[in-house]
Amino acid sequence: MKIVFATNNKHKLQEIREILGPNFEIVSLADIGCYEDIPETGKTLEENAHQKAEYIFDHYHIDCFADDTGLEVDVLGGNPGVHSARYAEGTDHDSNANMDKLLRELGDTTNRKARFRTVISLITMEGGNPLCSREYQFEGEVCGHIDTEKHGTEGFGYDPLFIPDGYDKSFAELGEDIKNQISHRARAAAKLADHLKSE
Ligand code: IMP
Repeated sequence: MKIVFATNNKHKLQEIREILGPNFEIVSLADIGCYEDIPETGKTLEENAHQKAEYIFDHYHIDCFADDTGLEVDVLGGNPGVHSARYAEGTDHDSNANMDKLLRELGDTTNRKARFRTVISLITMEGGNPLCSREYQFEGEVCGHIDTEKHGTEGFGYDPLFIPDGYDKSFAELGEDIKNQISHRARAAAKLADHLKSE
């Protein structure tokens, strides 16, 4: 089954392809010739995931899914949350600037509990009719805490700072094999895979 993942993030594509396995042909936005800046103006992860998937379905009439992920830190009232990509002012997906801001905000706070949460929106065509579609949402989360400094070089985004519960190393140190077994995206993607396989 061919399905568009509404992203050009190589890390996310690789993670999702490994999780979904060889029965699914997961193609990127670049693969379908989509180079537009897809609007992402929702106030929640659910709204953003929906908005991105709907944009692709409406413009390309193809089965697709989109994800939105946020890092939710307890003492920061759930921030950066839906603002995770642009947490550091005046930046866009600048992981180092975002992590530096997070470390500054937390200071020497001892409660550093956090979780990554991913929402995936899947939109599929009904009965071969591009005007008829159904949407499903799947959520995954992983709990952990924010370290006091960055460790590791693998992964992306906030991975060097996030230590998942049950481990004493960051996602960036644990590497993709372990991350793909326990991550927020892996858990949401497993629900997506179950759904697709049952269809
Ligand atoms: P988005 O889902 O691509 O909008 O991600 C929002 C922000 O969260 C970006 O800054 C990403 O770098 C970060 N992010 C998303 N997924 C992960 C992850 O698996 N590990 C670390 N950071 C992530």
